[in-house]
Amino acid sequence: MNILVLGGTRFLGRHFVAETLARGHRLTLFTRGQSPNPFGTAVELRVGDRDPDVGAGLAALAAGQWDVALDTSGYLPRHVEASCALLDGRIGHYIFVSSVSAYADLSSPGVDEGAALAALPDPPSEDIALHYGGLKAACEAHVRARFGNKALIVRPGLIVGPHDPTDRFTYWAARFGAPTLLGARGARAVLPAPPGRTIQCIDARDVVAWLLQAIQAQRGGTYNLTSPAGRFTMGGLAEAGHELSVARGFDVTIAWVGEATLEARGVVPWSGLPLWIPDSDRVLRGMLAVDVTRALDTGLSIRPLLQTLTDTLEVLVSTPQGQRFTSVLTAELETELAATA
Ligand SMILES: NC(=O)c1ccc[n+]([C@@H]2O[C@H](COP(=O)([O-])OP(=O)(O)OC[C@H]3O[C@@H](n4cnc5c(N)ncnc54)[C@H](OP(=O)(O)O)[C@@H]3O)[C@@H](O)[C@H]2O)c1
Repeated sequence: MNILVLGGTRFLGRHFVAETLARGHRLTLFTRGQSPNPFGTAVELRVGDRDPDVGAGLAALAAGQWDVALDTSGYLPRHVEASCALLDGRIGHYIFVSSVSAYADLSSPGVDEGAALAALPDPPSEDIALHYGGLKAACEAHVRARFGNKALIVRPGLIVGPHDPTDRFTYWAARFGAPTLLGARGARAVLPAPPGRTIQCIDARDVVAWLLQAIQAQRGGTYNLTSPAGRFTMGGLAEAGHELSVARGFDVTIAWVGEATLEARGVVPWSGLPLWIPDSDRVLRGMLAVDVTRALDTGLSIRPLLQTLTDTLEVLVSTPQGQRFTSVLTAELETELAATA
């Protein structure tokens, strides 16, 4: 197949490109050429910008025809509308990567694909940090309007795994498997009690595997993509993490610290202690328990956390990473908190 990726060189897109190349497909990537292209001449690289008003904009996509387009870099409706209009009639199957953040209300578990979507303020804003979900929902609308039943919209939860540029899961790989990367850490890792706390995430490679099946089936529609609610817990993360730490010659054990203590000591949920959303968070407490029945019914398979932790760590320690782990709780605070448990 001829496949166009709007993106493809950082994380999710990178895994998709690696896997589709391995299967013998022909890949065209459209990027600004700012992130290094790990695929060299194995892909055709077209350089431009999703923003039609920046430089040559989308001019590099003026010609060509593809069986599938995967859009991993669409964040602003204006950009997505422009590329959809330009590619109309030249794409067989358009896949847009949205997010569970597109939902209006994540305060309760069980949000499925029929739930209401986030809205943009009036007048609309392009502030991605403030309106990520509403912007994604508006992008989705353009894709659906243009491509109809040839449009596949996926709404992943937290995407994790090797090459993740964020610390939101990679922290745990480092904390258990290479704690020295995080400064002078104690032997006990602080985790938010209780161990039965549900967490939800998906390895980028599991997203890709599901996408490849969906491409084969020419599937349209909208799908949440993450681990089934309840499959992963903080306790499961602790067990997998301990196994990784022992395999790497450490013996990191767990200090379960209650939410009240974490909050009182100013630990920032999600960034300070990755994958932690406090029960007291009335807005987001359902975000790690969305419904993935549709994806499971269409072949979604989720690998074990230990495999994701192990592979994430391998890439982390083998590639230069630049400055990382600046938002997570400090070694000093972690040691103090561990002493309370
Ligand atoms: N990470 C998560 O937990 C999570 C969860 C849910 C949904 N998502 C969604 O999943 C997608 C993940 O994307 P990714 O970053 O992993 O994908 P990726 O395709 O691996 O990397 C992003 C690509 O977009 C290109 N790009 C960025 N801005 C561009 C622009 N203005 N014009 C042209 N190309 C541009 C980058 O190259 P250059 O820098 O060279 O331009 C890069 O190739 C996003 O849509 C995100 O919203 C992520």
